[in-house]
This record gives sequence, C-alpha cells and structure tokens, in this order.
Amino acid sequence: MNLHDKSVLLTGASGGIGQALAHSLAQKGARLCLVGRNEQAMTLLKGMLPYPERHHIALMNSYSDEEIVALADRFQGDNRLDILINNAGTTRFALLEQQSFDDIREQIRTNIEIPTLLTRAMLDKFNPQGIVLNIGSIFGEIGHPAWSVYSATKAATHRLSEALGRELKRSGISVLYAAPRATETALNSDEVYALNRKLGNRSDSAQFVADRLVQLLETEQKRYRFGVMERLFVKINAWFPGLVDKALGKKLSVIQSYARGTVQGEDK
Ligand SMILES: NC(=O)c1ccc[n+]([C@@H]2O[C@H](COP(=O)([O-])OP(=O)(O)OC[C@H]3O[C@@H](n4cnc5c(N)ncnc54)[C@H](OP(=O)(O)O)[C@@H]3O)[C@@H](O)[C@H]2O)c1
Repeated sequence: MNLHDKSVLLTGASGGIGQALAHSLAQKGARLCLVGRNEQAMTLLKGMLPYPERHHIALMNSYSDEEIVALADRFQGDNRLDILINNAGTTRFALLEQQSFDDIREQIRTNIEIPTLLTRAMLDKFNPQGIVLNIGSIFGEIGHPAWSVYSATKAATHRLSEALGRELKRSGISVLYAAPRATETALNSDEVYALNRKLGNRSDSAQFVADRLVQLLETEQKRYRFGVMERLFVKINAWFPGLVDKALGKKLSVIQSYARGTVQGEDK
C-alpha cells in the first residue's frame, strides 16, 4: 500500500514504538489518528510530526465500549480508515506468583481484549482496501518464564491475526502480524534490561522496529518476526519444544532472581 494520504489509526501512540511509528508514517504522508490515554504526550507528539494539522488525537480514558464506539464513529463518509494499528500493550516482568489479579487482568485487557474490540468496531469503517496491523511479540510464540501472562496474551494476538486474516480474505482487508523481539522502550524495566545483558539477548531500537513496520505495511507482508536467532527459536519451539524447555530451564535460576529482584552487585 502506498501510505501517502492514507488514514491511519494508531493505538499506544505515546509509547516508544508508537512515537517512532507515528514519525515514520507521517514522513510517508499518512494522516494519523493518535490514540491513547496520555493527552499531553500525544499533543506534544502531534506538534512534532510533519504537517501537524493533518493529524488528530483521540483521547481514551479507559477504552470503554462507549469510547471505542465513539472513536469508530469518527471514521465515516469522506473520513474512512485505511490502516488500524493495534500497538498499545503492557507487560509485567514477574513470576505468576508475584502478579496480582489486577496485574493479570490489565495485561489480558490491554493486549487482547481492547485490540479485538477495536478491530470489531472498525470493521465496517475501512475504505475498500484496508489493513489491520497487530503488534505481537516473540514471547507470544516462545512462552517465556516470568512473562507467562504476557506470552499468553501475545500468543492470542498471533492467533487472532491468523484467524481473522483468513476470515477476511475476500473482504479487501488484510490482517498483518508483527512480533518484535526486545525493543528499547519504557515497556521494559531496568531489571529486564539487566537480565537481557546477563543472558546476551539482543534488542532493537524503537526506530528500527518502526521503520520495519512501515515496510510491512507498504508490502502488506502478512507475518514478520524480528531477529534472525529469534526466528530460528520460534521454529525450534514449534517443532522441538523440549529443546527450548531445556535451554530456558538452564537459565531459570537467573531469570527468577532478576524477577524477584534478588540480584546483587555488578550483575544488577
Ligand atoms: N518494547 C519491547 O521490548 C516489545 C517487544 C515486543 C513487543 N512489544 C509490543 O510493542 C507494542 C508497543 O510497545 P512499546 O515498547 O512501545 O511500549 P511502551 O513504550 O510502554 O508503549 C506502550 C503504549 O501502550 C499504551 N498502554 C499501556 N498500558 C495500557 C493500558 N493499560 N491500556 C491502554 N493502553 C495502554 C500506552 O499508551 P497510553 O498510556 O498513551 O495510553 C503506551 O504508550 C506493545 O504491544 C508491546 O507489547 C514491545
């Protein structure tokens, strides 16, 4: 899809990947509806984008059903939608025993319930050719200790994208799925950065991820996973999960100590 003058709805616009994506899309000439709960951050972002007057902000307090329907109602007549990007997401780097019911519920609601409801609400708001881009995670395809709930929600993102893409095959709407690996944003706590250093896990900048996502939209590539090794591990996990059980089992004590915050000294 040529992104020039396309109408794009972007959730989690104020976040690390969201902001980088907003800049990259605006540079391509897209018209953005920046969606999120942080009005100040989105206003600042809008002001810094090329042609700020072409972009809009949609403030969501809680993504209630009413707010979602009101957002969808903005897209009718001459103002229909070309691209919906379900980017907002949240995580807890914590063992399940450390997570409150509210921690668990917030991840399920943010990562799978809200994007599914929003996609449902937008289905009849697209121009004849539309794209839904769902942002998953490599952890949605490799269940990872201390990210069990997050992994589960992102696995759901993967399956939702796959199933809906097949369901909408003849509708003119393409459903794309992208799974970043660790990305340098505020989503990850200091403990996660320290753990990644300790385990030698590679990460990407938010701008790198955003630029690749823009390419996916332009080429309408259905699925994309970030990182050569991560792509390989996803395959190994699918075919030989026992090997990944063993590999992650060897790292379990380290992962647990970072999740529990019991790491001392220079490893911290
Ligand atoms: N960073 C990584 O390592 C990484 C790796 C793989 C996948 N991802 C995925 O990439 C996407 C973007 O993440 P990011 O790294 O840019 O994270 P981020 O900087 O923390 O931004 C996440 C955005 O999601 C929104 N959000 C957070 N909690 C929310 C809630 N409870 N309800 C509604 N919206 C909420 C926030 O927007 P508002 O506060 O403005 O509403 C925030 O701007 C997410 O789906 C994430 O799972 C990230």
